[in-house]
Amino acid sequence: MKILAIETSCDETAAAVVEKRDSEERVMVLSSVVASSLKLHVPTGGIVPEVAAREQAKYMVPAVQQVLEEAGLEVSAVDALAVTYGPGLIGSLLVGVETAKTLALAWDKPLVPVNHVVAHLYACWIGETIPAFPAVALAVSGNHTDLVLMQSHTDMRWLGGTRDDAAGECFDKCARILGFPYPGGPEISREAAKFNPNEHASQITLPRPLLHDNSLDFSFSGLKTALKRQVDHVEQVEQVVQEMVYEVQEAITDVLVAKLERAVERYSPASVLVAGGVAANTRLREKVQNLSDAYQIPLFIPPVKLCTDNAVTIGAWALFHPTPLPPEKVHANPGLAVDEWV
Ligand code: KG4
Ligand code: ZN
Repeated sequence: MKILAIETSCDETAAAVVEKRDSEERVMVLSSVVASSLKLHVPTGGIVPEVAAREQAKYMVPAVQQVLEEAGLEVSAVDALAVTYGPGLIGSLLVGVETAKTLALAWDKPLVPVNHVVAHLYACWIGETIPAFPAVALAVSGNHTDLVLMQSHTDMRWLGGTRDDAAGECFDKCARILGFPYPGGPEISREAAKFNPNEHASQITLPRPLLHDNSLDFSFSGLKTALKRQVDHVEQVEQVVQEMVYEVQEAITDVLVAKLERAVERYSPASVLVAGGVAANTRLREKVQNLSDAYQIPLFIPPVKLCTDNAVTIGAWALFHPTPLPPEKVHANPGLAVDEWV
């Protein structure tokens, strides 16, 4: 089966063609394009939804044309379309959803609506080896931080998630407090790598929220407040900025890994999955690899370019859940709560 997928939930306009053979479980990528309007949002320190939506409209059709060309496919060879219907920015989502509906109608193809947060996890099905069930999965992006137990492709149980800010949001807000441009996650990651805790004992300590709480929930909003308080008491922030970003990264990743470990202990999975934009973080990757080694449970973490938003993951999800909705039922619903999809 070959699927043409579209993802426009935020500031990326992405299209991809993916394929899965009936005899195989893994997903093959025939082509993938990601056009980003990220640079336009740097001066505003965050995404202006109206600006992002206009850029989506500019790139959408060329992106679809390009992936069909690169895959060397005629439209007749595409079996179905898939599109992100949420969560995300309404203006951006509408561009992808309306494009997909129109193409589905014009080409007379089925259309599969996809939740892009859960689809992040499907980056783990691309590659030679694929995860075994049951799997404990951490989806960690700019607006979501969720732990999920996957018994199969159709039996997914939400175990816990953030009660306030997402991990990516926390990276972004802390970076902003420290004067780094948007998006802050990659900036913090780069800057933190320059700090060597063995050379300089860190003077700064941030809380690890809900670390000892028995739940599988997270809470990150207090971290930025704690950081702000410390910054307000330092005279020359530039002198300790590396130490601060290092501690921000340690605090966020400590909590993510501790909760993942708790879920692993509780559910003894056959694989551990980590995906979403924050999974691009090198320190998080190191810590979850250590967890996987300690428990001897295989870890699946996508290559960095498949961690952030892309259409490959949308198509991959659809290959395993190919039940289409009639186009008129596909609404762009940015408010869909995570427990509605599990
Ligand atoms: O999944 P994603 O691309 O978009 C959403 O669905 O939100 O995730 C974006 C988030 C942003 O908060 C960004 O700062 C964070 O992922 N991120 C990172 C890194 N790369 C992206 N956070 C920490 N370290 C990184 N290297
Ligand atoms: Zn995402």
